[in-house]
Amino acid sequence: MNLATSSGTVRVPIALNERSYDIVIGSGLLADDACWDGLPASADALIVSNTTVAPLYAQALATRLSQRHRRVLQVQLPDGEAHKDWATLNLVFDALLGAGCDRKTVLYALGGGVVGDITGFAAACYMRGVPFVQVPTTLLAQVDSSVGGKTAVNHPLGKNMVGAFYQPARVICDLAMLNTLPPRELSAGLAEVIKYGPIADAEFLAWLETHVEDLRALEPRALAHAVQRSCEIKAWVVGQDERENGLRAILNFGHTFGHAIEAGLGYGQWLHGEAIGCGMVLAAELSARLGLVAPAFVPRLTQLIQRAGLPVQAPVMPGARWLELMRVDKKSEAGEIRFVLLDGVGRAQMRGAPDALVLDVIAAHTSTD
Ligand code: NAD
Ligand code: GLY
Repeated sequence: MNLATSSGTVRVPIALNERSYDIVIGSGLLADDACWDGLPASADALIVSNTTVAPLYAQALATRLSQRHRRVLQVQLPDGEAHKDWATLNLVFDALLGAGCDRKTVLYALGGGVVGDITGFAAACYMRGVPFVQVPTTLLAQVDSSVGGKTAVNHPLGKNMVGAFYQPARVICDLAMLNTLPPRELSAGLAEVIKYGPIADAEFLAWLETHVEDLRALEPRALAHAVQRSCEIKAWVVGQDERENGLRAILNFGHTFGHAIEAGLGYGQWLHGEAIGCGMVLAAELSARLGLVAPAFVPRLTQLIQRAGLPVQAPVMPGARWLELMRVDKKSEAGEIRFVLLDGVGRAQMRGAPDALVLDVIAAHTSTD
């Protein structure tokens, strides 16, 4: 159930017993008192942002938070996936300990998925756990990474390999903040929006086919609907399987291939969402080759991903390298690579596939230019 407020702001609840919280979606939320009511009270707050986002929004957020906290501190992390590591995580602890912050301090993650994942992990660890609030500023973070409590940093041997499940106290999605997002980043976010259609909602997929250009143009009604529907689906999945013992894995559609692309090319070469976009094409093709979805679905999904401004041809990497990288995936079991594949349109399942078939699928979608 979603609750629309008089200001047009929507709240999507995420039901996790004592860890339940709301995802608030609207425009201009820094000025919306109701959006901030009821958050954890504390003397200190730390805004964690990066060198790109902080100059845009940190001062406005600090002004809002100064109504709730006696001290509002800030730390700016270096920008980019290449900095999603242990050294950057330590900068958050340096800021907290350097300022003498206690175990009630509230962390506010102001940024995209990289800032959100690092801040959440820092919150899980600092003094064995302090509250944190997600203020996601990319489309990808608003529809996926800020919701559901997965936090992590990368290890040179694998993406998101060191982290924790740790839920935020609230997620505040201010759609107005997307106005400054570069178009390439907006497209990357659309990959995670599109993902929800094939795995959970055929009707949403059809809606996206009609509205993808509106989303690229940041048309407000289309954007609000896409963020809300994505968050509803994610909240539904996470509410049933917080720690990914089963169902939650479907949110990784395209990710086994995508994570291999990111790690194989070096973090930051392809954006996360770009790698997932291409990964979804490969996962759809593998599903079709296994008879799980009609072959015609592959060009249908490919076309939508392309219209979203995302790559649909895989990068050139030796087959053995693809397999090696995909075996590091967290879904692998006893060395067997497991994929999220489709089960018709609007449903997904996990399963393995023969290496030769997987390599054939990759070859069929690799650019030879
Ligand atoms: P990102 O955090 O690197 O942000 C993308 C770029 O946009 C950065 O340069 C950032 O500084 C800039 N930016 C952010 N907001 C802006 C704004 N409003 N205006 C202008 N520039 C802005 O990338 P992302 O795509 O947001 O997130 C990708 C990360 O999320 C990956 O590390 C991925 O592993 C993670 N992720 C996590 C989950 C999860 O469940 N925790 C889910 C999906 C992805
Ligand atoms: N983005 C995948 C998940 O949250 O489980």
